[in-house]
Amino acid sequence: MKKIILTGIQPSGALHLGNYFGAIQPAVEMQARDDAQPVYFIADYHALTSISKADNLRRYTFEAAAGFLACGLDPHRTILFRQSDVPEVHELAWLLSVVTPMGLLERAHSYKDKIAQGADASHGLFAYPVLMAADILLYNSDLVPVGKDQKQHLEMARDIAQKFNDRFGAVFKLPEPVIREATAIVPGVDGRKMSKSYGNTIPLFGEEKEIKKPVMSIKTDSTPIDQPKVIEGTVLGQLMQAVSAEKYERFKVYGAAAGIGYGDLKKDLLAAIQERFKPFQEKFRHFQANPDEVEAILGDGATRARTLAAPVLAAARKATGLSK
Ligand code: TRP
Repeated sequence: MKKIILTGIQPSGALHLGNYFGAIQPAVEMQARDDAQPVYFIADYHALTSISKADNLRRYTFEAAAGFLACGLDPHRTILFRQSDVPEVHELAWLLSVVTPMGLLERAHSYKDKIAQGADASHGLFAYPVLMAADILLYNSDLVPVGKDQKQHLEMARDIAQKFNDRFGAVFKLPEPVIREATAIVPGVDGRKMSKSYGNTIPLFGEEKEIKKPVMSIKTDSTPIDQPKVIEGTVLGQLMQAVSAEKYERFKVYGAAAGIGYGDLKKDLLAAIQERFKPFQEKFRHFQANPDEVEAILGDGATRARTLAAPVLAAARKATGLSK
């Protein structure tokens, strides 16, 4: 039996380099494991807790799917689907809701953080971790790779599974979290973690000028051109290191020499970004011109996901007495 490796991708805007190194590249690498079946979905129901324009939700969902595929996700190896194409997840979310203590949800950092940032306190936002637990448990997941910020949500999923099993019998497997530490995450142009909410991103699939603008705005110190510069550990250095380890080695040496300005180094980084991501960008444009190809892949993924979900949901319904 192959291990199910499941993760959800929140479609929250244009994909950027932070998404690539933090989530897309590891997801693509996971496909090389022979002992595992990757299952990835675009969490559009979750995104609805923060996106209010229908066109935006549709566009971001499409771009997330097309983006992962463009970067090498193989739909034969991986089950890729849209969360809302398997609405069974809501039935399971309800079954889990009845065993989820209010206190557990009240302790969720991400809910408290979002409210502190000005989000409306909706039931959807509050119940977000229950739907996430349903995502995980519905497919009998063994491993769930996520960023550090999702650690508590995974602990909650395990707690909820355990509560259900205690009350109704052993239906769910307890999923193992695989937490990616922050070291893998690239800095944004201002030196903080690259994130849409900080407005410091370098887009993955933007037009040339959309990529150039943030690269040229990367924060540097005021070392004059004729003085040697430190590259290691700077935003410029870390980005180059992520984009091309090989170029980074050269970059460190000549970048540190006197006579080279930060403007030149930024142009080098821009060229390295373009070289590395060009094939992905071309594939992405292909999907934009042929959205039906993406739809067909998602449709097939949903069919396969439903096949995994059916026996689990049936067992949960039986255990609760909803069915015989
Ligand atoms: N909450 C996750 C995030 O924001 C996305 C997500 C939804 C998810 N359902 C999931 C991740 C299930 C892992 C497993 O990144």
